[in-house]
Amino acid sequence: MMYNNFLSEVKAAADFIRGKAGSFPQTAIVIGSGLGAFLNSVSASISLNYSDIPCFPASTVAGHKGALVIGLLEGRPLALWAGRKHLYEGAGVNQSLFSVYVMAELGVKILILTNAAGGVSNLLQAGDLMLIADHINLMFKNFQAAAQAGGKPCGVAGERQIYDAQLQQVARDAALREGIVLKEGIYLATCGPNYETKAEIQFMKFLGADAVGMSTAPEALMARQLGMRVLGISFISNSAVLPSDGKTAHEEVLANARLVEVKFSKLMTGIVKEIVSIT
Ligand code: HPA
Repeated sequence: MMYNNFLSEVKAAADFIRGKAGSFPQTAIVIGSGLGAFLNSVSASISLNYSDIPCFPASTVAGHKGALVIGLLEGRPLALWAGRKHLYEGAGVNQSLFSVYVMAELGVKILILTNAAGGVSNLLQAGDLMLIADHINLMFKNFQAAAQAGGKPCGVAGERQIYDAQLQQVARDAALREGIVLKEGIYLATCGPNYETKAEIQFMKFLGADAVGMSTAPEALMARQLGMRVLGISFISNSAVLPSDGKTAHEEVLANARLVEVKFSKLMTGIVKEIVSIT
């Protein structure tokens, strides 16, 4: 019953978006903290505030615009989600994953998840871009709650390859073509909202993590379950290893986003151009 309510809310949101946008792009990008400048690359766009979409949970975090932008990038249809609902905002798993369900309803095939992350590896510095090779999920949550409440089997239960190998190669090729250094590593997800202690960073290094953040893993898992192909890109906004210079960490994240704006946009454009040839 709860599950049916949830799905009808998803459907109401999807119907509203379809009504405004007409057809919906098959490729979508979730834009991480501070990276909203990329929205300016999209032309012929319409923008829907999350607060205007029925049943849609709005993000409350600074640096997140809270809008769905649908338009063209280099002539390719693209949907951009500027802002996400993090688990640490306290709304629960289903609310946090609402946009992923909406995308499935709207027929999205390829989902590019981007985020700001702290560099755990000594090889990563603020301003780097990192292709997510794989993730370690330390959120200890059941992201399939909604589906299970409906008694539905999970399409990809047991799957180990969450991030799409072909899309990863597209990202590497695009970086090379655009002359952008794209590092590669393991993203570790925590619920947050606190940043890590020094001891926790040591622990994460020991586990094999290269970067740490508070999003992406649930979305990637749910998008796979709902049949999408997933790519993940982290922007390293700060070193989790080095002490910051007295600013609070979230301010640091937003300030350092300016370091990558241009190359992030170039990389995303390069990836989207290339994606069309594999779909
Ligand atoms: N830790 C966790 N999440 C983050 C960080 C960090 O240092 N930077 C950006 N998101």
